[in-house]
Formats: sequence, C-alpha cells, structure tokens
Amino acid sequence: MRSYSWSEIRRGVAGALLVAALAHAAALPAQTDAPADVEMGAISGSPEGPRRHFRLRNPAELGTDEAERIYRIASASLHAGYAASGLEEARAYQGWRRFNTAPYLSSTHGNHYINNYVNPPGGAYARFEKAGTLPAGTVIAKDSFSVTETGGILLGPLFVMQKMPPGFNYLTGDWKYKQVQPDGTLLGETGGAGAERVEYCIACHLAREQQDHLYFIPPAFRAAGE
Ligand code: HEC
Repeated sequence: MRSYSWSEIRRGVAGALLVAALAHAAALPAQTDAPADVEMGAISGSPEGPRRHFRLRNPAELGTDEAERIYRIASASLHAGYAASGLEEARAYQGWRRFNTAPYLSSTHGNHYINNYVNPPGGAYARFEKAGTLPAGTVIAKDSFSVTETGGILLGPLFVMQKMPPGFNYLTGDWKYKQVQPDGTLLGETGGAGAERVEYCIACHLAREQQDHLYFIPPAFRAAGE
C-alpha cells in the first residue's frame, strides 16, 4: 500500500483515495491506531505514514447506499478485529438480527457510522420504544467505522450492552456496558476490568431509565419492527 504526500492530500485526491481505500479495505489489518476517542482533528499522525493514520475533524458525509456499500467491505475486518477479544458476542454478533437499514452516523458514539445488532433473547427490541424491559441474556452490539474526507476507512469500536441477572447493578438497570477496540482489546466493562473507562456510558443512558436505558435507532434507519 503506498502512502500519500502532504501536497497530494491537500489537493484532495478524494476520488482516487476512496477507490484505493475500498480496494484495500477487505485486507486491512485490525487497527491498533484508531482508538474510540480518536481525535477528529485536521489530518494528524505522520503525513508520510499509511492512510489509516489520518484523522479528520469532519467525517465524510456518505449517502445511505454508499455507507452500506462501504460497510459490506469493512464488516469482515471489523468482525475479525473484535473477535480477537475472545468475547462470545464479538464472535457472534454479525449473525444476529440487524435493526438498522443502513449505517447511521452517531454523534454520541465518536461520530462513527453505526450498525445495531441484537441477539435472539433480546428479540423484543424490535418493538423499539414499546419493548419494555429486556430480559437477562439480551446483548446489543453496535459495530462502527468512519470514513475520512479523503476516503480512508477507520475501523471503530464495538459498543456492547449486555443485560445481566437482577442485582448486577441497580444504577444501570442491570446492563453491563463494554467497549471493544477494533484490534480486540477490551477497553473496559462496567463491573469488570477498565470499568472507569466506560462509566460515562452509564450516565448518558440513564436519561432513558423509563425505557430500560435504551435510546433505539434514529427512526429513519429502523428496520421494520414486529
Ligand atoms: C452522550 C450520550 C451517550 C453516551 C455517552 C453513550 N451512549 Fe450509547 N447511545 C446513545 C444514543 C443517543 C443511542 C441511540 C442512537 C445511536 O446509536 O447513536 C445509543 C445507543 C446505544 C446502544 C444501542 C442500544 C440502545 O440504546 O438502543 C448501545 C449498545 C450503546 N449505545 C452502548 C454504549 C456504550 C457501550 C457506551 C460507552 C462506551 C455508550 N453507549 C455511551 C447515547 C450515548
């Protein structure tokens, strides 16, 4: 894979880069250099380095078809990276039901494009705001990626909510929050290793206490419910 000079980037060879990004995406290794809180600054990192080091303030605006097309290319790399964590949900989630019709931009989850999968025990999620309290054993997994203005694809984290048995944590409605990095590193999980790194998840989701701490999917991207 060749790298790009500053002047090439500045001139904005977006089209060529996008083609290159798409061609290489399937072969991209799991990235260790794109953490969840990736700084969306102007292009940073080494300008001479590989494309995946670049970080942009404004993620590219993709049409839904384009977002879906890129996701189809990137999803195998996402899965392989998360699965390196050894977590069951990281291995299994792409076989679960996907509740969004196309990747959607989530400003609350690092400005990544997001896909939302729920395992069979959480099937009532299909009723969205009418789902009620989901049972223990429910796991919701959101994978994520972003696309830079120059067409580079950055693999993002896997965001997980797992419903634990009653008594696990009153404050979270017994949800365990986890964040798995694109290289399979577990950044943290509530009630476990690195808990302090995922505590901020709790506060935000707590605002939806009346609907089992869930926000659901932006209406325009909801796959038909039950
Ligand atoms: C600033 C508020 C905020 C924070 C912080 C936050 N979330 Fe969310 N979360 C949302 C919103 C809004 C949605 C629904 C829209 C979306 O997906 O962007 C959501 C949806 C989800 C979902 C899908 C289930 C649902 O609510 O319908 C999961 C899983 C999830 N978040 C996990 C996490 C994890 C894990 C963290 C911490 C690493 C986290 N969230 C931090 C606001 C937040």
